[in-house]
Amino acid sequence: MPSDKLQVIFIGPPGSGKGTQGTFLHEEYGVCHLATGDMLRAAVKAGTDVGKQAKAVMERGELVSDDIMINLIKENIGSDNCKGGFILDGFPRTLPQAEKLDEMLTARNSSIDQALEFKVEDSLLVRRITGRWIHQPSGRSYHTEFAPPKVPGKDDVTGEDLIQRADDNEETLKKRLVAYHSQTAPVLEYYKKQDKLTTLPAHLSPDKVYATIKGCFNKIRN
Ligand code: AP5
Repeated sequence: MPSDKLQVIFIGPPGSGKGTQGTFLHEEYGVCHLATGDMLRAAVKAGTDVGKQAKAVMERGELVSDDIMINLIKENIGSDNCKGGFILDGFPRTLPQAEKLDEMLTARNSSIDQALEFKVEDSLLVRRITGRWIHQPSGRSYHTEFAPPKVPGKDDVTGEDLIQRADDNEETLKKRLVAYHSQTAPVLEYYKKQDKLTTLPAHLSPDKVYATIKGCFNKIRN
């Protein structure tokens, strides 16, 4: 059924391009971009209770508890920012999170339009993750090789410093991939059973991935 507002989920392994595409797309489509990793990193930086609980778990490359994540989404999904729809980037990551999200949306007479899987071989991800630099306040992400900033180490828009994430190293990436394949892969099956899963060729260039997602979004809207 065509939908006047987009409600989509991005699912993919670390470094598959979810954040890059979410940042590009949210303004163009007038939807909010709820990136749970960015929200947790902001909580860690602010020293909130959630941040204190999440910090060590994230640095180990493991998943933060379902209760924390579900509350975080509950608080944000109904906000004014998300009135035009949402891109959920990094949530749900477990079956209980997916089930709770459906419950939350059903209670609002609403549902997910599509879950987009960012499919890319694990072997490509080491280079993407170890070369990444981010602008923490905005979530903008750069890459020394694939998407360099205009001035090395500085955000293109604000000129502020870029940083490397504590979990962006080869050793932690291995653990994040284990968590993805064991705990998040079943979520793909969950949406497949609902006939709501679209798989994207996320190994292609950012422009090509962007064009494919736009094709999906336009199909949902028409
Ligand atoms: P999170 O921040 O969500 O990390 P992630 O899922 O591991 O994803 P990344 O942010 O690493 O990658 P991305 O797909 O956004 O890639 P990007 O676009 O930046 O989560 C971090 C942690 O928080 C988790 O480990 C967990 O502990 C916790 N957490 C978060 N959500 C949770 C939840 N729901 N439940 C429990 N715990 C949760 O691209 C990567 C790099 O590649 C960039 O440098 C970019 O410039 C470059 N690039 C992007 N696309 C391309 C392309 N097509 N070609 C070449 N280079 C590209």
